[in-house]
Amino acid sequence: MPRKIAAGNWKMHGDSASLAEIDALIATHPTPAVEIVICPPATLIHRMVCHIGAHPIAVGGQTCHAAVKGAHTGDIAAPMLAEAGATHVILGHSERRTDHGESDVIICAQARAAFAAGLSVILCVGETEAQYTARQTQAIVAAQLTQSLPQDATPTRLVIAYEPVWAIGTGLVPQNHEIAAVHGAIRGILHERLGAAGAAVPILYGGSVKPENAAMIFGIANVDGALVGGASLSAAAFSPIIHALENA
Ligand code: PGA
Repeated sequence: MPRKIAAGNWKMHGDSASLAEIDALIATHPTPAVEIVICPPATLIHRMVCHIGAHPIAVGGQTCHAAVKGAHTGDIAAPMLAEAGATHVILGHSERRTDHGESDVIICAQARAAFAAGLSVILCVGETEAQYTARQTQAIVAAQLTQSLPQDATPTRLVIAYEPVWAIGTGLVPQNHEIAAVHGAIRGILHERLGAAGAAVPILYGGSVKPENAAMIFGIANVDGALVGGASLSAAAFSPIIHALENA
């Protein structure tokens, strides 16, 4: 069975005052029954790691460069994330693909670097609204996953996140059967690529996950958790999502 994971993607939100949200999460979930990962802006990673101390909440980056070092102004290398105390990194988020032109080839190289640095990779895939309307979802997701997953991926440190671009930050969510179909197809590709180990790779759903819809989403086959944006910024909103996953 895949592990259950509640991952928070803070995007370009959060400052030192936001560490109070981590205190609230720790107080509400002293011994969580699922994995909790928070991916804050890079400036907060080390402070958050120190703040969390021995509690099992994990901290992740939101991207990394494919190189271990070099003349890449503004970028961050996977070993740097690891040294700062991060154990995870989100790769291939649609905002990185759009804002920074990250292609599947680039994402694949980033994933290889992240695995080499010992990080767990939360690999994001998902179709745009136009692709959804054109009924290309399955083909797009399959192509993204196939092309961005390194041949030598480490299955025990791999997490997939299916995030329809049109569902991110919009309040829109696909129908249950649509999520089930995509997650089932992803599971099939993971089996093909990774053999038996593919069965244990967590597949998260992301895109407008809220306290109100979390339990329903976690009831869908092959949904092993969520990658949460807006609702992960406050413990008051993220905590019920974690509880819903624990009870799924
Ligand atoms: P959202 O973002 O939960 O705010 O829709 C999800 C994401 O982009 O990871």
